[in-house]
Amino acid sequence: MRASSTPCVSVAARVSQSTTHIAVFFGWEARSIPSVVGIALSWRAMSALEAVASWLRCPNCGSSLPCVNGHRFDVARQGYVSLVGGRTVRGDTAEMVAAREAFLSAGHFEPIRRAVAGSTDGLAVELGAGTAYYLAAAVGDGYGIALDSSKPALKRAARAHPRIAAVACDVWAGLPLQDGVADLVLDVFAPRNGEEIARVLKPGGTLVVVTPTDEHLKELRATLGLLDVDPRKAERLQSLPLAHMSHQRLDFALALSHDDVRNLVAMGPNAHHVGEVSLDGLPDPAAVTGSVAIDHFRQAGGEVVRPGA
Ligand SMILES: C[S@@+](CC[C@H](N)C(=O)[O-])C[C@H]1O[C@@H](n2cnc3c(N)ncnc32)[C@H](O)[C@@H]1O
Ligand SMILES: [Zn+2]
Repeated sequence: MRASSTPCVSVAARVSQSTTHIAVFFGWEARSIPSVVGIALSWRAMSALEAVASWLRCPNCGSSLPCVNGHRFDVARQGYVSLVGGRTVRGDTAEMVAAREAFLSAGHFEPIRRAVAGSTDGLAVELGAGTAYYLAAAVGDGYGIALDSSKPALKRAARAHPRIAAVACDVWAGLPLQDGVADLVLDVFAPRNGEEIARVLKPGGTLVVVTPTDEHLKELRATLGLLDVDPRKAERLQSLPLAHMSHQRLDFALALSHDDVRNLVAMGPNAHHVGEVSLDGLPDPAAVTGSVAIDHFRQAGGEVVRPGA
């Protein structure tokens, strides 16, 4: 934390000398910390950031942190660090993230969460982590890094688990991680940068990808005219530069109230149509199919790290 003249930051420094120490050590710049509650949350998030810092790298020049070339990074008061590297990148809006949090916290995708839950004792990384709902279950006894481009999502991810650090980045521009550091990479309904995932996985490390099948939410797609699942998803998975270890299909039944359906529409790619969606004629609750593919890939060498092991 570079010394700041804001009174709020000086309160934080008095409450905990270590908070100041962490930020100075990593060359990160903490923004204002507004309240005692904020201090507690930021302290927890800063501890996770401190723990994972040696696995991160500068998005501008690839240096370990603190960057030897003097690039500095903001730590938001909500506890995530921005390693976007000066680019403009779009992510889910606050409304989409709030809808996602409401939908997930109702437990509708719990079967997916259980399927990716694990006992990793090293580093688990999630791309496009959103609220880190899945990463929090996969982190096991180790640490997690939630990568996302959405600030509202990162704010929640930073609170998802005491050992999860939230990092803003554009996964298409490269992952702000050192080579060969991740035991597990998770990608659930999110953008996938295969070359970069292969670079950051340890030898023997595992990538778990969750994608919707063409049956996923089929009743809602038919009734509400939602976007179809990309038919080339499976083909694109096969082009990842890793060994394909297994393919599993997970089907589960959902009973969704109209509020659940509104959240489901609002949290995804159909969000901008949400106002136009009519639920007339849809039973409340509605019986809906959940159906995803879970694919495991492995980086060559080392021991296999498998969630659920
Ligand atoms: C469909 S959501 C999935 C979120 C989470 N995996 C889940 O299933 O709850 C996709 C996520 O990817 C993020 N995202 C989109 N483009 C991104 C990019 N270029 N870099 C990083 N994150 C991105 C969005 O902000 C959003 O949180
Ligand atoms: Zn740098």
